[in-house]
Amino acid sequence: MNVDVPLPLDVSQVLSPSLVLVREALEHNLREMLRIAGSADRLRPHCKTHKMAAVTQRELALGITRHKCATFAEAEMLADAGVTDIFLAYNVVGPNIARTVAFRQKFPQVTFAVTADDPDQLQQLDSACGAAEQTVGVFLDIDPGLHRTGTDDPARVLRLVSQLKSSPSLQMRGFHLYDGHNHQVDVAERKAGVLAGWTIAEALRARCLAAGFNVPKIVCGGTGSFPIFAELDDPDIELSPGTTVFHDTNYGSLFPDLHFQPALWILTRVVSRPTPTRLTLDVGNKAVAADPPKGQRLFLPALPDAVQVLHNEEHLVLETPDAARYRPGDVLWAVPRHVCPTTALHRSVTVSENRQLVDQWIVTARDRQLTI
Ligand SMILES: Cc1ncc(COP(=O)(O)O)c(C=O)c1O
Repeated sequence: MNVDVPLPLDVSQVLSPSLVLVREALEHNLREMLRIAGSADRLRPHCKTHKMAAVTQRELALGITRHKCATFAEAEMLADAGVTDIFLAYNVVGPNIARTVAFRQKFPQVTFAVTADDPDQLQQLDSACGAAEQTVGVFLDIDPGLHRTGTDDPARVLRLVSQLKSSPSLQMRGFHLYDGHNHQVDVAERKAGVLAGWTIAEALRARCLAAGFNVPKIVCGGTGSFPIFAELDDPDIELSPGTTVFHDTNYGSLFPDLHFQPALWILTRVVSRPTPTRLTLDVGNKAVAADPPKGQRLFLPALPDAVQVLHNEEHLVLETPDAARYRPGDVLWAVPRHVCPTTALHRSVTVSENRQLVDQWIVTARDRQLTI
């Protein structure tokens, strides 16, 4: 992964640990996402990675009108930012059924859809929407091999589609297909995995059409698979990458064929040099996602061979023969291994452009609940 991006020159007044968004890299990634998709019309990017109105508005300015999210806070952030076509790609259950109705009432101008894969869930959604004289769109969740949610069983899909058709407050919008298991480094192998999932969806669509049920759209993929879906000549495909906007070292090593740049950087400082070969930084596991294994949660381009020996809430301890180059207070830049949960750990990011700090963007949807 090319980590050569224009970082800001003067960060002496910026607190650490904190996040710095490099505008040039963000713009590069947005352009690259559009280039791969072929046109803005084919995209429905997932906002889970950035959770920010400012990034959403950049996408809207580029003509990307359809957006995807996973939580009601993200849906609300998108609607407040001006998005009028929102797909909450999550099965709504429990209090989220009432929140679906509340969302429809608060944002009547928004075309809104959720996922479903269960008859009881559909029934509850239909009666709650019916009681409030609202309608909501539904994308049936298809399992392309991730085995997380959804189904690949034709009989079950036909039953669900038929139930949808007879639910007055629900509108069949199509299928949802997320294939987060397709992380093969080899492009030919990844392509085979993606096409295996697509074949399942295509066959299910054919069964629905033969039974007289329409499947208007199929929302497909993430960062590693959307370029492969983009090559398919199917007008009903919508592409839903998420991590692309910021990229990270995990996807940098998994997908060497993709040319996104790391846009979201962690600013950290040396707080101690306890031994001649040891440096302690202030980027604890409350400032960078801790789902990757210990020792691999971030990459420091200035110290690529440093061994991360201890990672606590507020400290990261490195062993490196280069420790003598640093003293307490010195700045180090790091790229997170998993950027999406890293963003969610911070209230805001500092934006850099032309190597200057120019703005502060709020990570609005890091909260679980905004108003709904
Ligand atoms: C349902 C769904 N769609 C899209 C995405 C975006 O995938 P990626 O982060 O690989 O771009 C995710 C990521 O977790 C997801 O869960």
